[in-house]
Amino acid sequence: MTDRMKATARACSNIAFIKYWGKADFDHNIPLNDSVSMTLSDAVTTTTVQWDPELKDDVIYLNSERILDARALRISRYLDRIRDQYYRMGARVASVNSFPAGTGIASSASGFAALATAAFAAFGEESPDETEMTRWARRGSGSACRSVQAGFVEWKGGTDDASSYSEQLCGPGHWDLRDLVVVLSRKPKTISSSEGHKIAVRHPFMAARQEELPARILSLKGALATRDVATFGEIVEHEAMEVQAIMMSGRPSALYLQPDTIRLIHHLRAWRDDEGVPVWFTLDAGPNLHVLCEGDVAFEVRERLTIVAPDAEILENRPGPAARIVDDHLL
Ligand code: PMV
Repeated sequence: MTDRMKATARACSNIAFIKYWGKADFDHNIPLNDSVSMTLSDAVTTTTVQWDPELKDDVIYLNSERILDARALRISRYLDRIRDQYYRMGARVASVNSFPAGTGIASSASGFAALATAAFAAFGEESPDETEMTRWARRGSGSACRSVQAGFVEWKGGTDDASSYSEQLCGPGHWDLRDLVVVLSRKPKTISSSEGHKIAVRHPFMAARQEELPARILSLKGALATRDVATFGEIVEHEAMEVQAIMMSGRPSALYLQPDTIRLIHHLRAWRDDEGVPVWFTLDAGPNLHVLCEGDVAFEVRERLTIVAPDAEILENRPGPAARIVDDHLL
């Protein structure tokens, strides 16, 4: 019985090119706007879920350590919603990330995509289809919505639980775009993304942003379809700066950028403007720089980054695969 009720899933994190920053509905993680991302090949969470009718309370391990704090509670509350669909019983959950915490890569995105996939499969009944699985991941953490599918993904923000789900725009083979994450700091963020989503909603710039976004998303999708890296890069960089401006000028202010972030941005722009190196960047709610370029220049860009940031770890990602069931259980 118990072995039948165990499954392991693997899911990648994602980097948003058009960002989710601001929620329209906090209970269901409905965003203010649609967003577009790339699934990250080398930022992976593996999660095993084992349902056990004899277990009263969930037992949860993260990176081999038992957790009993707010993170465990959040996972248990989330599992309650899945249990409500099937049977009420405890779960053993073990989850490991291939990337260290605080690297500017969202472990909640890969984490909830892997958890949802494993938790349903472990019941051994028919799992929700892929679109419904994106809704399930979103119920755990908004950006996880985009981590269920491979390659390049759009989260249709929608207006309620049913209309908020993700769709694949192109598979991983469509474009050899790289995201070189330059890890400049591992300190925890001063303002969490949950807090940031609240501050963003009441920001006076938000209305103007929302008005412009549909056209921006259309242009980005056009550039993605034709692999027009210069147009794509320009839109993505502008989007990143706009969202940072909203973060910085919010009340309270979230200043995620560090001096090294700005220093690297200046280098990157000089390489592009003065030397013609086709390289762009995006940022998340943190100081670490996501450097974007096509595969044919990735080696050169990496070499350049190593010279200007010799102490920084660089995590290189390609368009990654969809969340999937695997055999190597953690429990
Ligand atoms: O999923 P959350 O609530 O952690 O929000 C993440 C928001 C950003 O990573 C900053 C942007 C995005 O679209 O992923």
